[in-house]
Amino acid sequence: MSEIVRDDSGQQHGRAAEGDPAAGSAPPAPLLEARDVVVRFGGLVAVDTVSLKVPTRSVVGLVGPNGAGKSTLFAVLSGLQRPQSGQVRLGGVDVTGATAQARARRGLARTFQHPEIFFTLTVREHLLVAYRARHARRRLVTDLLMTPSRWRRDVGEEDRVDSLLDQLELRGVEDRRAAALPLGMLRRLEVARALAAEPTLLLLDEPSSGLDVGETERLGEVLRAAVDSEGLSLLMVEHDLGLVLGLSDHVYVLDFGKLVADGTPAEIRASSVVRDAYLGTAGDLDQSQGAS
Ligand SMILES: Nc1ncnc2c1ncn2[C@@H]1O[C@H](COP(=O)(O)OP(=O)(O)OP(=O)(O)O)[C@@H](O)[C@H]1O
Ligand SMILES: [Mg+2]
Repeated sequence: MSEIVRDDSGQQHGRAAEGDPAAGSAPPAPLLEARDVVVRFGGLVAVDTVSLKVPTRSVVGLVGPNGAGKSTLFAVLSGLQRPQSGQVRLGGVDVTGATAQARARRGLARTFQHPEIFFTLTVREHLLVAYRARHARRRLVTDLLMTPSRWRRDVGEEDRVDSLLDQLELRGVEDRRAAALPLGMLRRLEVARALAAEPTLLLLDEPSSGLDVGETERLGEVLRAAVDSEGLSLLMVEHDLGLVLGLSDHVYVLDFGKLVADGTPAEIRASSVVRDAYLGTAGDLDQSQGAS
């Protein structure tokens, strides 16, 4: 039934393999690795013995129909859901039992399928909170006890926030309450907020959900620029196949909790198994051919 398409280099391809000083000796541990992860909800096997790798400085896609288990696997990777069996490793270290906060300290950040925002905070304040959560935890606690206008601001964090506002094209709305933003901007705020913690790995759950074609294209450009300038890796769950096949170095396909295929975007486009999993949306695969 399943067709697994892999390249011979074990995914150390594309940007991940370039100039790798360890090439030829023992391969470096992937930034993130899931090994045989299983999650059951009662009788339902939501994630069924799934393994995947995210190499350093790579973009990896995770696609599949509704209910395939993508968000559940993300919850396992980010520490919000304990698997019944299997392992999660960050930089070669077993973090299966580690909290989400401990994983964040190891450089992992994520966004959610449904944006989670603080209704009273402005765009800038969201980014400051995210920055301090990683860099100045003690100050974060005192800040949360007073109104934002009384927060003490540091030059370093202001610089970081300013550069994220530029990078994610949120200038002009920085002092607006996030709750008042249109969805396209909220999605970019989610990404900016995750980047404020200066992660090495960012997990994105459906970043283009609810966006129109133009907004999705812009988001793709912004993500590509963030990867290139920040040197981070992305693992992206995405329904928009044009976006995910256009951005990714490697793509995994889940269906009913099982990994049914993985390979380069070209291999995924050509895969009959993927077409079967997306029965009725094969046109999307064809349309994504020209995506950049
Ligand atoms: N907390 C839960 N309790 C019981 N069942 C759950 C729970 N979370 C998810 N499921 C079930 O597990 C399966 C996988 O769900 P999941 O949300 O991971 O899928 P998904 O691939 O992210 O889907 P979508 O594309 O719709 O976001 C589904 O059948 C879902 O109904
Ligand atoms: Mg989901």
